[in-house]
Amino acid sequence: MSLTFSRGLEDVIIKETSLTYIDGVNGILRYRGYNIEDLVNYSSFEEVIYLMLYGNLPNKSQLEEVREKLYRNFDVPKELISMIYSLPKGSNAVGILESAFGMLASIYDPKWDKSTDRDLAISIISKAATITANIYRAKEGLKPKIVEPKKNFAESFLNTVFEKSFSNDEVKAMDAALILYVDHEVPASTTAGLVASSTLSDMYSCVVAALAALKGPLHGRAAEDAFNQFVEINSEDKVESWFEEKIIKGKNRLMGFGHRVYKTYDPRAKIFKYYSEKLSKNNSQANIYYKIASKLEEIGIKNFSDKKIYPNTDFYSGILFYSLGFPIYMFTALFALSRVLGWVAHFIEYVEEQHRLIRPRAIYVGPEKRDFRPLNER
Ligand code: ACO
Repeated sequence: MSLTFSRGLEDVIIKETSLTYIDGVNGILRYRGYNIEDLVNYSSFEEVIYLMLYGNLPNKSQLEEVREKLYRNFDVPKELISMIYSLPKGSNAVGILESAFGMLASIYDPKWDKSTDRDLAISIISKAATITANIYRAKEGLKPKIVEPKKNFAESFLNTVFEKSFSNDEVKAMDAALILYVDHEVPASTTAGLVASSTLSDMYSCVVAALAALKGPLHGRAAEDAFNQFVEINSEDKVESWFEEKIIKGKNRLMGFGHRVYKTYDPRAKIFKYYSEKLSKNNSQANIYYKIASKLEEIGIKNFSDKKIYPNTDFYSGILFYSLGFPIYMFTALFALSRVLGWVAHFIEYVEEQHRLIRPRAIYVGPEKRDFRPLNER
């Protein structure tokens, strides 16, 4: 039997999928055959929920049905809200999400069942919204609040977080962010969750596994780290010297740049750029960060052209979130709020259609057989 070794599992195929198609050379991303640009421009996050879980875009009554299911499930156990509010104010937002989904796993412990998996998936998305909203509210000293249904999911979420109304442009930008982060085939977080789902562990626990991988700076946390670069640079005229110092001389990675699959401009980054420019026009500080980011992008592309490293989805997303009023510590949690849909869609696809325990091998490179010596002889 010949075994192959691929460091970082690069180019290893772990499953078949009908969910997401990526062309990393031409910068194309599609969910179930639909270009990401069309989904952002002409559909809503709720339509994408239906698309990912049921295979097709919904008609009007199917859309109403999915909204109704989402809105019915915003409630969470009161112990969960108490847990969020009992944690120290400085607790990590994604860590709180992990604890919250761990708690749901202990309370409910659901089994995989084709007839209920999709309803459970929808309720997970709703609960993720209430948990995420209350992470912010607890940290900011605001009273707990279950998400209240408004016209659509994005508006319901924003209103609950901040208890104020938002313009149509702002709601559309949030909706776009939710759609853009939904799925990206099998990145580290989805793969981690798939490993858990392959053992038939429950859906909540699989979300915890995925969150653990998303939390890292090389994956979901890059949006926070990318934005922190703009904060550190502070003004447009310092971009060039910062790049020289930190990236060239300091040999640090430019966060929000580079991708394992895309060897061109990430199509999501283009859309995030459009919305962050649009929203930041009404927020002078965000506008400064937008200008810094644009200049940094230009310098980054010029420097890394031989390595084919371009802005990824996390480069501009923070500016959109910041323009809406979110603090930096929320960025990765917001990514998770959207990505939870991609995760559960992949888990269902794997468990229902192609289930097999995921159990790779490792090459043993340790010592040859050694003679055992008892403790008092060592
Ligand atoms: N800045 C500077 N150099 C980079 C960057 C970067 N952002 N990304 C890759 N490189 C360089 C590496 O130094 C390496 O150079 P070398 O061949 O001279 O040693 C080469 O490009 C290949 O790098 P790898 O780490 O092997 O590429 P990989 O495919 O594993 O990297 C990754 C992908 C982890 C995303 C990387 O580009 C990175 O660290 N980016 C910054 C973090 C980031 O933005 N992550 C978010 C990714 S998108 C997402 O998760 C939603």
